[in-house]
Amino acid sequence: MILAAGLGTRMRSERAKVLHEIAGEPMIARVLRAVASLDADPIVVAVGHQAAEVQAAARSAIDAHALRFAMQSAQRGTGDAARCALAEIPGAFAGDVLIGYGDMPRLNPSTLRAFIDNHRACGADLSFISVALADPAAYGRIVRDSSGNVAAIVEARDASPAQLAIREINTGIYLVDAALLRTALAELRDDNVQHEFYLTDIVAISRTHGCSVIAWRAPDAAEFAGINSREDLALMETQIRDEVNRRLMAAGVTLIDPATAYIAPSVEIGRDTIIGPNVQLLGRTRIGANVVIEGTAWLSDVTIGDRCRLKTCVRAEDCVIGEESEIGPFANLRAGTELEGHNRIGNFVETKKARLGRGSKASHLSYLGDTVIGRETNVGCGVITVNYDGYDKHETRIGDRCMVGCDTQLIAPVTVGDDVYVASGTTIVRDVEDGALVMSHHPQREKSGWTANWHRRHAGHPKARTKSGNGA
Ligand code: UD1
Ligand code: CA
Repeated sequence: MILAAGLGTRMRSERAKVLHEIAGEPMIARVLRAVASLDADPIVVAVGHQAAEVQAAARSAIDAHALRFAMQSAQRGTGDAARCALAEIPGAFAGDVLIGYGDMPRLNPSTLRAFIDNHRACGADLSFISVALADPAAYGRIVRDSSGNVAAIVEARDASPAQLAIREINTGIYLVDAALLRTALAELRDDNVQHEFYLTDIVAISRTHGCSVIAWRAPDAAEFAGINSREDLALMETQIRDEVNRRLMAAGVTLIDPATAYIAPSVEIGRDTIIGPNVQLLGRTRIGANVVIEGTAWLSDVTIGDRCRLKTCVRAEDCVIGEESEIGPFANLRAGTELEGHNRIGNFVETKKARLGRGSKASHLSYLGDTVIGRETNVGCGVITVNYDGYDKHETRIGDRCMVGCDTQLIAPVTVGDDVYVASGTTIVRDVEDGALVMSHHPQREKSGWTANWHRRHAGHPKARTKSGNGA
């Protein structure tokens, strides 16, 4: 059971807390992946606030076959949410129920596995994970009896000063025998400061039934930090980022400034690649070996081959950059850009659904949209594919080994053959055959002395030029 129905008041947000993103995805996604890796079946998510959005986030995080949803229409506490979730678990189910909260995005599957193993080895009826914190803050405190056995979990708001001093706290992960859970949840009462049904009360209830309760002390408290505020969110984001950066550096990637390398956990980077400052690598980005990203880049779902160089300021999304290509500075590679390799995309070039064959280049000031270009073709400065007629997008095709002159416009749909030379300033409106030179120039004309004559005609004008030639 994953409890995720709350709004998360302390986030001060219109959005349900579990939808807030951490390391590039809603926090609920990370929690569910950790649980799914334990082969739990069914996995019941208690939803309430923005139920539809939370369900969608859950479905895109894990394989949906084991997933069920329980609606908690009024948020009356974690115990009430667990009651709702229990209704989705078949009555005949007799195993152990793992319960966790949707706001714990750093859960580690191997720690959960060790916890479950310990529960089974001890033959416990109820186990939960505790940690010791220097600052126990608002977490529930673990109260033990005189023989050191767990007696109850007391919420900070309900705790006496002596209980508040306890540093062993409840992480919010429980493993309970299904029959005991049914009994204990039925006995919950809301006689506490918040008038909520606390899931934590199942501990004291289990003890009154003479059941064995174990608090399993986890080694690393950071894994169980709950997100309750924007500050918690930012802090955990930094922790996850540091973890990713350390793993990449250990694997042979140079990060010039790890503090400004924002790399999603799912990104893969090859050896001896150098990542400069202010770089965001997101989604399913794959970067080869010996790549240099000079700095200031935003790359999402981008595949980059070996030995590429991205000069300063590149934005690229959903595209493929083949080996030994040089991109930027200041390049915008939009979705569907595919560079075969050894390509060059230079400053102020925008590409969209553009396929460039091996060795083709567009070095300056171009727009290449809905375009297929062959190999070893050079696209000159200021070339524009005119792909949009106000209703539909049209394709431009350019062959191998072409020289497309500066300031050419290609009015799509249009096809230019192989080995074509396009004179600069040409507007291509029709297909061009292989091997041709194409131009649409007006012949150059010249009128001697025209400028002086022009100024003479404006002699009386308020802006008439003085002797020095400046405007008045
Ligand atoms: C809870 C525990 C506390 C523990 C801490 C660990 C209780 C009473 N307290 O406190 O002992 O130390 O987590 O992080 O359980 N939720 C619902 N429905 C509700 C209320 C909450 O689904 O009616 C969900 C929330 O969406 C959230 C989770 O339960 O994902 C935990 O709720 P939250 O309010 O954050 O509990 P804490 O006060 O942090
Ligand atoms: Ca919490």
